[in-house]
This record gives sequence, C-alpha cells and structure tokens, in this order.
Amino acid sequence: MVCADIQETGKQTADDIVAAGGTATAVVMDVTKAADWDRTVAEAVRLHGTVDLLANIAGVVALDGPDTVVGLTEERWDHVVGVDLKGVWLGMRAVIPTMVEQGGGRICSVASMAALRGLPNLAAYSAAKGGVAALTRQAAIEHAADNILVNTVAPGTIDTPILAGVQPEHLKHSRLPMR
Ligand SMILES: NC(=O)c1ccc[n+]([C@@H]2O[C@H](COP(=O)([O-])OP(=O)(O)OC[C@H]3O[C@@H](n4cnc5c(N)ncnc54)[C@H](O)[C@@H]3O)[C@@H](O)[C@H]2O)c1
Repeated sequence: MVCADIQETGKQTADDIVAAGGTATAVVMDVTKAADWDRTVAEAVRLHGTVDLLANIAGVVALDGPDTVVGLTEERWDHVVGVDLKGVWLGMRAVIPTMVEQGGGRICSVASMAALRGLPNLAAYSAAKGGVAALTRQAAIEHAADNILVNTVAPGTIDTPILAGVQPEHLKHSRLPMR
C-alpha cells in the first residue's frame, strides 16, 4: 500500500501496516498537483506492479473564514474545491489508465452527507462533495466495461482532526436524520 498525504502522517499509517505484517510505504504529496499523482502512481506500480485500489480520502474544510455562498472568498473556494473535488478527479485520472491496462480496479472516494443536503457554513465543501458524488457516477459509467468499480461513501460527523476549528453549533446539524 502507498499511504499518501500532504503531511508526514502517512508515514505513521505505513508504519502501522508494516508492523501488522503488511507492505506499505509513505509518500508526501499534494492531491491538487497532477505531477504528484504521477509520482505516487509510479511508486505504487514500482512497489506492487499494479494499482488495485485508489481510496480518495484527503479533504479539507474552510476554517479561516466563512464558508457561505456570500461569505466565501475565491481563495477559500479554490482551496476547498481544489482539494476535495479536483484532487479526486486528478486521482481518478492518474490511476484509471493503469487499471484499464491491468484489467480492472476499484476506486472509492470519501464524499460527505454534505453532498446530499445543505449544512451550515459548508457551501464550498458541499459543492465539492456533491461534485465527488457526480464525478463518481460519471467515472463508474465510463469505466464499467473496463471492470473498474467506482464508489463513494457519504459519512456523517466523525470526530477527527478535520473538525478542529469547526463551530460546535454547526456539527449538530449533520447528525440530523435524512428527510
Ligand atoms: N470527519 C468527518 O466528520 C467527516 C465527515 C464526512 C466526510 N469526511 C471526509 O473524510 C475524509 C477524511 O477526513 P478526516 O475526517 O479523516 O479528516 P483528517 O483531517 O484527519 O484527514 C484529512 C487528511 O487530508 C490531508 N490533506 C489535506 N489536504 C491535502 C492535500 N492537498 N493533499 C494531500 N492530502 C491532504 C490532511 O493532511 C489529512 O491527513 C475527508 O475527505 C473528509 O472531507 C469527514
């Protein structure tokens, strides 16, 4: 497994996998950079010969100001949509040719409940995650005949570092049941 992250945290994950008897290496990369994807996919092929699965997990929320339709700045929009949506597209684009060549593969991307309903202060995030859901359907249709299964998951609120700085009153809304 290749554990890729913009921070060194991928190394801890890789170390845990190796300690449990698996094979893993860590790569520091930025999912918004096509060249980083090329380097990471090349490393996976070098280590394992194939790319069986891509898990698109990297994500950010806007924390340095409002994430509302009117309150967003272009910079905040570009950052959130860049990581949360463009990063997923670049990942798919980077691995699919190898998967086609090897006869199939699996791609799973983490969207969010925000893809399915409006939530407070998550305008760019909702747009990006909705885009992930739509892009997933598109890629699934385009590559079904190549034996590439493309899925997304849409979690509700989970207590992870991404929530640091998110206002508590916004969190309770994502625990409401779907209507
Ligand atoms: N925690 C939640 O409540 C929740 C709910 C729904 C969906 N999600 C989604 O789950 C996924 C994982 O988030 P998490 O909750 O584990 O948070 P997290 O902050 O622990 O993980 C996100 C990771 O993305 C990495 N990252 C950020 N920008 C990057 C970039 N440009 N290139 C490469 N890596 C980058 C971060 O370094 C971090 O390790 C995200 O896509 C998030 O949107 C989380």
